[in-house]
Amino acid sequence: MTTLQVRPPTAHGRLLDWVEQYRRVLEPDDVHWCDGSEAERERLCEGLEASGTFRRLNSDLRPNSFLALSDPADVARVEDRTFIASVDPDDAGPTNNWRAPAELREELLGHFAGAMRGRTMYVIPFSMGPLRSHISQIGVQLTDSAYVVVNMRIMARIGDAVLAELGDDGAFVPCLHSVGRPLTDGRDDVPWPCDADNKYIAHFPETREIWSYGSGYGGNALLGKKCFALRIASVMARDEGWLAEHMLIMSVTPPGGQKHYVAGAFPSACGKTNMAMMVPTLPGWKVETLGDDIAWMQFGDDGRLYAINPEHGFFGVAPNTSYRTNPNGIETLWGNCIFTNTAATADGDVWWENLTASPPEGLTDWRGRPYAPGSEEPAAHPNARFTAPASQCPSIAAEWEDPAGVPISAIVFGGRRARNVPLVTAARDWRHGVFLGSVLNSETTAAASGAVGRVRFDPFAMRPFCGYNMGDYMAHWLETAAARDPSRLPQMFWVNWFRRGADGRFLWPGFGENCRVLRWIVERVEGGGESVETPLGYIPPPGALDLSGLQIPPEHMAEMLTVDRAAWRDEVDLIRDHFAGFGQHLPGELWEELALLEKRLEA
Ligand code: OXD
Ligand code: MN
Repeated sequence: MTTLQVRPPTAHGRLLDWVEQYRRVLEPDDVHWCDGSEAERERLCEGLEASGTFRRLNSDLRPNSFLALSDPADVARVEDRTFIASVDPDDAGPTNNWRAPAELREELLGHFAGAMRGRTMYVIPFSMGPLRSHISQIGVQLTDSAYVVVNMRIMARIGDAVLAELGDDGAFVPCLHSVGRPLTDGRDDVPWPCDADNKYIAHFPETREIWSYGSGYGGNALLGKKCFALRIASVMARDEGWLAEHMLIMSVTPPGGQKHYVAGAFPSACGKTNMAMMVPTLPGWKVETLGDDIAWMQFGDDGRLYAINPEHGFFGVAPNTSYRTNPNGIETLWGNCIFTNTAATADGDVWWENLTASPPEGLTDWRGRPYAPGSEEPAAHPNARFTAPASQCPSIAAEWEDPAGVPISAIVFGGRRARNVPLVTAARDWRHGVFLGSVLNSETTAAASGAVGRVRFDPFAMRPFCGYNMGDYMAHWLETAAARDPSRLPQMFWVNWFRRGADGRFLWPGFGENCRVLRWIVERVEGGGESVETPLGYIPPPGALDLSGLQIPPEHMAEMLTVDRAAWRDEVDLIRDHFAGFGQHLPGELWEELALLEKRLEA
């Protein structure tokens, strides 16, 4: 491998100094600057196979693809070990874990000291967003994990092209990562090195730095994603007047009509990837995918909000992804993918719950044990993931890498709520839309460690991802549009695909059938879309949704499209507590919106 001393492929003084500074701290045996080439990827994958991290899948079934099984103690984002180390604790706010920056640095430096002994330190220059886009940003990650490098190569644009864009003096976000398992004193390596008892996912918003230690999994380790593109970028966006959001980007085109771009915020593992790749069931309607997780948005000179997807791939939840729920997702996974914590089939492929109606024979579970059909434990971990190139998605929009971004017509918020939240509600205006986003809540999922199924407020689906005080974040959403022409702003909507009836079964079929709701949203954007005014916002009367071909009992539609006043008075109490948690940081306008909701509920 090339060492820094032999060939630093850049003359960027600050970058070279930073790499050298941490090389001295981390003490790797070797430094490798990633060029992003195919040859480099192949070499790294071979090494990962040799070390037992990767198992190559049967290339007749899934070419150029690998399975990795993690340490069972490193399977998800760790919110309780995620820190926002702002100078002032108030700037982290009540939804983040705050640590004093100097103290956290010192503690982490203790862990980082010598952490890469016996290993190679990879330097990954990466671009979040297409090269030459005014909305994109550059980061550089140091890591001792080749698994991270090959995942980052799918999830971001990496290597020499990024260094060229950075030039000799460009701005970059420094991202430090170690799995925290030095190979000292004759210690052998393990397939999934980590330091399970000492994980830290630390963000320093003032200096725009990320330090991650101890975990090799997903958002903890692929630092371009949640750490940079959301937590640090949200701070940049606040300071610079743009929006960094946990949102999919899709286009919707009615038969013979105009294409509209929709951004959608849903908490983790609530069907965002499925929605971004939806196959609409209404004849003639077309949906295309631009991104499944993150949107960076800036107002253009024409007053419209333009979005790019800063990512280059999908890091999607595998379980329950199937030809039924997400055919485009399944087609995306034909090859060139990395699977983590899925089950393995006897013929060298991958499997997860509900990929097929029943598990194939001879499965090995995500812990590498023979899987007994009917076992209480799932074969794939519930947060098992695929890492897949976005360009392989059959529904990818031709313009998905347009450096100018795409103009957003509608913003959709959605959570997983069994009760009370209607199938779809249109906001009255931007301020009311921000209110709906700020009270978004959902039942928790396996994407983060912790209890599953508990309802928690997750404003704009950003609760785990906002790098500053969420009260200020809500104020930023209000301010960013305050002086703008309301007719150019996206309209906002709250959807809920997850209503359940008295028998506990879902009332709405979801997936491709959600295009019926998208149709109404597009009609509203175009000035139509019949609606009734409710205390919560505008809701379609059942007749206003195109339900042709569906067999949904009218009483179920009525249940999904009404606001239960008594239940909502209880929800208001919960919202009041939620808002109160932000103290002085919660914008007064949102208290006013809550008062208006309460008044309408009484009327
Ligand atoms: C994700 C998440 O990985 O939200 O996208 O957890
Ligand atoms: Mn996400």
